[in-house]
Amino acid sequence: MINIENNFNSPLYVDTLYQGINSFQWQELFDIVEKKGFSAKRHALFTGQKINQSENRAVLHTALRNLSGSPVLVDDQDIMPAIQSVWRQIEQCCNKFVGITDIIHIGIGGSDFGPRLVCDALWTDDSLTKTPVNVHFLSNIDSADLARTLARAKPQSTRVIIVSKTFTTLETMQNAQSVIKWLTEAKLTKTQISNLLYAVTANTSEALTFGVKDENILPFWDWVGGRFSVWSAVGLPIALKFGFEAFKKFLAGAHAMDQHFLNAPIEQNQPIALALTLFRNQLKRGSKAQAIIPYAQSLNLFPTWLQQLEMESNGKTHGLDQKPVEISSVCIFGSAGTNSQHSYFQMLHQGTQVVPVDFIVVKAPLSDLPCAQEHHRQLIANCLAQSQALAKGFQHPTDQNQSYSGHRPNTLIWLDKLDAYNLGALMALYEHRTFCLGVLYGVNSFDQPGVELGKKLAKPIDQALANPADAELLEVFDDITKSRIQWFNQP
Ligand code: F6P
Repeated sequence: MINIENNFNSPLYVDTLYQGINSFQWQELFDIVEKKGFSAKRHALFTGQKINQSENRAVLHTALRNLSGSPVLVDDQDIMPAIQSVWRQIEQCCNKFVGITDIIHIGIGGSDFGPRLVCDALWTDDSLTKTPVNVHFLSNIDSADLARTLARAKPQSTRVIIVSKTFTTLETMQNAQSVIKWLTEAKLTKTQISNLLYAVTANTSEALTFGVKDENILPFWDWVGGRFSVWSAVGLPIALKFGFEAFKKFLAGAHAMDQHFLNAPIEQNQPIALALTLFRNQLKRGSKAQAIIPYAQSLNLFPTWLQQLEMESNGKTHGLDQKPVEISSVCIFGSAGTNSQHSYFQMLHQGTQVVPVDFIVVKAPLSDLPCAQEHHRQLIANCLAQSQALAKGFQHPTDQNQSYSGHRPNTLIWLDKLDAYNLGALMALYEHRTFCLGVLYGVNSFDQPGVELGKKLAKPIDQALANPADAELLEVFDDITKSRIQWFNQP
């Protein structure tokens, strides 16, 4: 049961009062998580044990923000010197990229959502000095994304960062090739192109083969999951836009949350509380979805980032023991309030299924306009009202259509202000929630085998689409896919 007066050094406040859980029920939940071996598993996470069993890898995104100076061992080797060396590389890039008008950050999934969110969210932090550089995130294989990016960038003063853990991802490699073509067509020489090309990857040999210069490669490692990688050099655009100090503050906020997660007693532990409330709603109310509603326009991309984090981590049918699991990831959706109120809140209030909500709210207004206080007051009032309406409901004496059942559980997460430090803490809070949920479900939260089949099947389909005259290529498909390919190939 979270006491919001005592945070155990978390920079955030988590208020679960509208979950409707009494102290006896909380105790039952704490017993469940302990029975699942939570403490030992958390210890294994932070100490570099190979908890990603299927890939035989450690999971050490927490080391990327370890500002304590203490070593972190993987296979008896301290990994902190390598991490610190990348911090120096990031700082050097910040100093070197002076006079650059555009950064094109090419990456997808975990190589995109995190830095995209942070760059968007910190715009409204007035304490940060923003460099004039325009950061463009290019992710989709859809050429419309490419066209929009290229229309906005100046080839002569652009830096291109190819961000891919594997350096084999179709979208990223195709986009990188097309951007290089654009630079060539703009009459940049091979040497100029090679000087402006950077890579962030765990596959440095592939980046070298692609043509990125050794000194322009910022490495990360197989013990960093893609969706947990914003703390690595994947977050380079954050430093380029807001300065290296801001990036360090972002890491520091996450580190503070790590310390909270490690040290706060289970009854006061914020990631555990978030995980247990969702888990309980799944078991007790059969919840299949959760809405994440930040009442802050700057956090509009937060639910998108969280979708990958939670659903790619915990959307599994089988557990670590290879046996089917009872429940796993819910469907995560959401967007900024108050806009979301005018979209799907009808269903949240009166729909037949109970969708728990996490509200995120920032105490300080996010603009310095003269009317900011007035807007902010109304923003907060709406958030508190929605939270109350869901929990308490309203019974009309005669009209069911005007009645609200209430008992719709929701949590309020509150930040004093939205700065790099608190944003780091907020993102780490949900990373640890994902880990806790994985423990409760009994799944490996750190692999994603379910994304592979579609990628594999796309290859022969692409071949058949590229060679419409070759009927033999169609023979490998089922009738439905075959007819769809034929339809697409018709002139
Ligand atoms: O969609 C699968 C996935 O492997 C994600 O886990 C990952 O974040 C994304 O693709 C991008 O991968 P990479 O960083 O290797 O290009």
